Amino acid sequence: MKGVFISIEGIEGTGKSTQVQLLTDLLKNKGYRVIRTEEPGGTTISVKIRELLLSLESEGIQPVAELFLYNASRIQHVEEVIMPALERGSVVISDRFSDSTVAYQGYGRGIDLDIIASVDKIATGGLKPDITILIDLDVMTGLTRNRDINKTDRLEREHISFHERVRKGFLALAEKEQKRFVTVDGSTDIDTVHNRIAGIVTSYFTSREI
Ligand code: TMP
Repeated sequence: MKGVFISIEGIEGTGKSTQVQLLTDLLKNKGYRVIRTEEPGGTTISVKIRELLLSLESEGIQPVAELFLYNASRIQHVEEVIMPALERGSVVISDRFSDSTVAYQGYGRGIDLDIIASVDKIATGGLKPDITILIDLDVMTGLTRNRDINKTDRLEREHISFHERVRKGFLALAEKEQKRFVTVDGSTDIDTVHNRIAGIVTSYFTSREI
């Protein structure tokens, strides 16, 4: 694979999307071909699945049905967007990927992590990001920030204890996969977080001579 796959992860309200945009702009200005994308999303079908998943009308969804829908969206995303871009040698920056499923459906909903890993293998064919940046933030700060800018969606409405489990899930993943993950403190200002992420990505590119 010629390209580089970067994912940015975190609980609600960490400023992920802003950081994805800033990183995209930075790398584009340096002359890289960059695809900025998000999960669930990135393709026509995946965007439709996203609407279904986040709609307040989907409140009765079964946890395993939710798991399959996130993965259905991911199959389209990997096949239509991520793999072709990596094969062309582009840098792909995704706002969330499989680690969100482990954190939300695994740690949050309590679905067995082995089942999640099996489904993930089918959806991604074993594709993993080269680098995953986890923007960590305490749950109350994140939820309060998001309330200011969004109408809340179905997952944001979950109880605070759900979001605490999700955060714990992300931190456990970062601990387990130290080679791939870098954790960044999301409580500082936008520029400080961006500079830290820029430093991480630049040194990764240098190490791979990209
Ligand atoms: P976003 O609005 O932060 O882009 O994410 C959409 C929501 O979907 C967010 O609440 C996290 C959730 N989510 C999961 O529960 N599992 C997943 O696999 C993904 C990608 C997102």
